[in-house]
Amino acid sequence: MFRLLEGKNVNLRIIEKEDLPLFAEWFNKPEVFGEYNPLHQGSRTDIEKMLENPNELKPFIIGKKDGSKIGFISHFYVLHIAGRQIEIGYSLVPNERGKGYCSEAVKIMVDYLFLSKDVGRIQAQTDPRNIASQKVLEKVGFKKEGTLRRNFFTRGEWRDAYIYSILREEWKGPKVLTKVT
Ligand SMILES: CC(C)(COP(=O)(O)OP(=O)(O)OC[C@H]1O[C@@H](n2cnc3c(N)ncnc32)[C@H](O)[C@@H]1OP(=O)(O)O)[C@@H](O)C(=O)NCCC(=O)NCCS
Repeated sequence: MFRLLEGKNVNLRIIEKEDLPLFAEWFNKPEVFGEYNPLHQGSRTDIEKMLENPNELKPFIIGKKDGSKIGFISHFYVLHIAGRQIEIGYSLVPNERGKGYCSEAVKIMVDYLFLSKDVGRIQAQTDPRNIASQKVLEKVGFKKEGTLRRNFFTRGEWRDAYIYSILREEWKGPKVLTKVT
């Protein structure tokens, strides 16, 4: 089982019990998820149960090289009757945005998923107003497929989402990771 996925400026590390207090704090802070994600709340117990569930894919903590934890990136299977697909989602703490960290974290995640899982497609959804997230996806090679109309309800209104994907044949091999151990 791998422990750390190493990039140039950030690493991804699977979440551990010791991360729980910080992750629970992030999970309940609207400013960490930003204005374009659904609002949600979760008790420490809810989050602990999720982390202990062997059937859940665990989030990765995004860390800088000095060891500081700056955000997370998650992945989950999207149910489809004819095959498996994976969706990703990510957030950084506000004072670490705009420094290229998320673009690198998504590159690492895409490499990891295509190297370790038999999936043909990775997808992500983003609010049409979330320019930073769209730029992240486009820099990593995701393509915009279209708009999911009235995709989710938050802050008193229905919101659309753009759906992006990258296919295995568009991936062109690992950009950051050379192996997953
Ligand atoms: C979306 C998010 C993860 C992007 O992370 P990030 O580390 O700031 O992204 P990067 O630094 O890699 O920047 C990617 C690009 O977006 C641009 N960008 C960053 N913030 C921006 C903003 N507020 N408006 C427009 N462009 C922005 C950067 O300049 C960069 O473009 P460039 O390479 O052409 O210069 C971060 O803003 C965040 O955590 N937001 C809140 C949660 C969220 O919205 N998650 C995504 C849900 S789909």
